[in-house]
Amino acid sequence: MSPSPASKAKGKADEPQTIELISAEVKSSGLDKMRVVGGARLKGDIPISGAKNAALKHMCAALLTDEPVQFTNMPNSLIDVRTLAQVLNHLGMTVALRSDGVAILRTKDITSHIAPYDLVRKMRASVIVLGPLLARHGQAEVSLPGGCALGGRPVDLHIQGLKAMGAEIDLDGGYIKAKAPKGLTGAVINFPVSSVGATENLMMAATLAKGETILKNAAREPEIVDQGEALIKMGAQIEGLGTPEIRIQGVDKLKGAVHDVVADRIETGTYMCAVGLCGGQVRLQNTRTDFLSALIARLELAGVEIKQDGADVLVHRNGSKLKGVDIMTEPYPGFPTDLQAQFMTMLTLCEGAGMVTETIFENRFMHVPELIRMGANITVQGNTALVRGVDKLKGAEVMATDLRASVSLILAGLVADGETTVNRIYHLDRGYEDIVAKLGNVGAEIERLKG
Ligand code: UD1
Repeated sequence: MSPSPASKAKGKADEPQTIELISAEVKSSGLDKMRVVGGARLKGDIPISGAKNAALKHMCAALLTDEPVQFTNMPNSLIDVRTLAQVLNHLGMTVALRSDGVAILRTKDITSHIAPYDLVRKMRASVIVLGPLLARHGQAEVSLPGGCALGGRPVDLHIQGLKAMGAEIDLDGGYIKAKAPKGLTGAVINFPVSSVGATENLMMAATLAKGETILKNAAREPEIVDQGEALIKMGAQIEGLGTPEIRIQGVDKLKGAVHDVVADRIETGTYMCAVGLCGGQVRLQNTRTDFLSALIARLELAGVEIKQDGADVLVHRNGSKLKGVDIMTEPYPGFPTDLQAQFMTMLTLCEGAGMVTETIFENRFMHVPELIRMGANITVQGNTALVRGVDKLKGAEVMATDLRASVSLILAGLVADGETTVNRIYHLDRGYEDIVAKLGNVGAEIERLKG
């Protein structure tokens, strides 16, 4: 199927290279499983991909202009990227996802304003087409999203914000039906809670609205900053990125641009936790420490050493036991909810105990029963899990129902005695490029079994 980032780097410099296109069609990974044998210390290099959660929003931003937009460092092989490519193609965008991590997107005309259920149900982030479609085309119908099973996950903030900008919106037959026949108008929008998706959706909508939009209590995640920077290259007028107040002056038209996608901090953090758990020394290539301060502070307390080395990050842990540390998930710059499951897995083998509190999503402890089946000692009460360290985990057959829970079970398998089989790995393919090659190259025993 897809080229690995590892293989992206391997072509010989003097050979002319054919750059293949990756098909947006996704073959079902159905019953595929991952087999992991525990015990290896990790040693070597892991290339980090561009951030999925930035890439998806960049793709939607290409709806805002009739000129071509080009992104580099794109995680093009991810199922989420390819699924969104299908949604956008349906709306009139031509999408070329290249095997070298370049994506070239052009929406000469919007040919449909409907994002149908069949496509949107596979990925919640599709709701982000709502703002750009309304802003450029004055009309949008988007099926209410599916995606990870993380509790209710409403989209009320997206809808209220667009209404404040003058859109008329109805919920009908499972669709969000929105119209702005006279165009959107700038507004002051004060979010009651910090929402990544709503901030991005409204920021995009505001780029082409009349007048000024002020987003208060805006989310500050690095992927939003990255998106804002790309929009600025496209001609948008945006101030305050990375702060709780973003100001956008609407312009008449946006233009094409070229932008390099920020590194995936969640993938980076996942591999940091893997080294914490297994021990060893790994160089994470082409990524940063500064956008993971909350995680790194906790990893250091637990006994993992981390330092930036030029464009790479070095992660090291010797044989000593990890110390128990408490974490609580919060909006950025707090501890990311998308790293909670991986950190909890690391705590299963700690000295003493660690407490994990999840404040962003309800129903985000789905990995806990599976970790317990592998021998972990975890007690859940409400949104808190107390993890008491045990001496070892034991391999088992396990299954996960969301992206980060799935990867946390892979991590558990890396240290468990014997063999672990992770079922239903569809979710992993949504968000981790080449995980088998990346972990295999640093010494892990991991293989994909066709179902
Ligand atoms: C994004 C990320 C996801 C990450 C999450 C939080 C993408 C594709 N996904 O999801 O990986 O876990 O940020 O960092 O970028 N909420 C409402 N009403 C709304 C919108 C959100 O109540 O209209 C609530 C949610 O239920 C949740 C909280 O706000 O409790 C934060 O959600 P949000 O930041 O919007 O997450 P996503 O953008 O969906």
